[in-house]
Amino acid sequence: MPDTLENKYLSDSHDLLSLPPGQSGLVEWKCPSNIALIKYWGKKPVQRPLNPSLSFSLMNSVTTMTVDYQTIKEQRQLSLEFLMENKPNQAFAERVFHYLNHISQYLPFLRSLHLRIQSQNSFPHSAGIASSASSYGALALALCSIEQLLFGTLENEDEFFQKSSFLARLGSGSACRSVYGGWTIWGYTPTIHGSSDEAAISMTRSIHPVFKDYCDSVLVVSSGQKSVTSSIGHALMEQHPFASGRISQANYNLEKLIQALVRGDENRFIDIIENEALTLHGLMLSSNPGFVLLQPNTIEIINKIIVFRKNTGLSVSFTLDAGANVHVLYPAAIENEIRLFIEKDLRKYCENDWIIHDRVGSGPVKSEQL
Ligand code: DP6
Repeated sequence: MPDTLENKYLSDSHDLLSLPPGQSGLVEWKCPSNIALIKYWGKKPVQRPLNPSLSFSLMNSVTTMTVDYQTIKEQRQLSLEFLMENKPNQAFAERVFHYLNHISQYLPFLRSLHLRIQSQNSFPHSAGIASSASSYGALALALCSIEQLLFGTLENEDEFFQKSSFLARLGSGSACRSVYGGWTIWGYTPTIHGSSDEAAISMTRSIHPVFKDYCDSVLVVSSGQKSVTSSIGHALMEQHPFASGRISQANYNLEKLIQALVRGDENRFIDIIENEALTLHGLMLSSNPGFVLLQPNTIEIINKIIVFRKNTGLSVSFTLDAGANVHVLYPAAIENEIRLFIEKDLRKYCENDWIIHDRVGSGPVKSEQL
């Protein structure tokens, strides 16, 4: 009996070699990016997280992935055309080719298809919103739709999304959380039934209404290339002197954050998510070699948020990704007040006044009637 998803998909896939000939079709998925509040930082082979993470999917920041497929008789290797924003893109095409090759062990029919993939983002590449999460999420969903269309093996919705999440993870870890809407957990933790390093799960315990339409305004402090990539940052966790402390902290913070999300405890929420954001950058600073992705304006914004919260009692907080940009988080009920604060006190710290307003979204959507 397969005890892991990995074994299940390896054994399931034997039947898939018998591809019906002469098939073609088109599938399209829109998949959101997500923002982590408990941070995934550091991994073990193959693409499993050192610690569990928790995020919410965004509403407006999405990738649309359109995949034309055609079965090629007697073909036994991948055939791919890849367009990004309607243009051929060699660098991305190579990454996608490598990815498809890797996951073809779970989807062997890929080697008998010609694929024409078109990818389009609703948000600019350099805004500091993870396009890899929305892209690999959308691609994995599209590939599972093709499996379902050709073989009818992913009829069950839970299984469909579980396999999509598993496949998305192999493209980019955080992408596995994007195949679900709302709040999502990835990574095994003893206190959460069904949690797994192999795929994300949707948060089933009821989230308090205040967190259901939480807002996220991304203040773009810098759109430039980062001095150190996330891949290098993850790798530096392997020898990190604080790794075991970090793993305990993330498990603890996750448990407490879930309680806060269920109870609607915004003060607790703020304590935990800001602790996570600062810890992420603390881990970067204390890596060997250490590196700094924070910029002076990042710190200015953080300090302004803390003072504003103290003076007004309003529940506004921040989180950070692996970069200089600041995600300002607040409930929809105080959107007007916080938007005013952002305009008056924070916009001046953004590159070219650049801000992207987003919020918790309901997850990926498949285009029908193509
Ligand atoms: C700081 O998912 O981009 O955003 O698995 O190597 O593709 P790879 O890394 P990636 O790392 C995301 C790190 C983070 C935190 C998070 O999203 O949990």
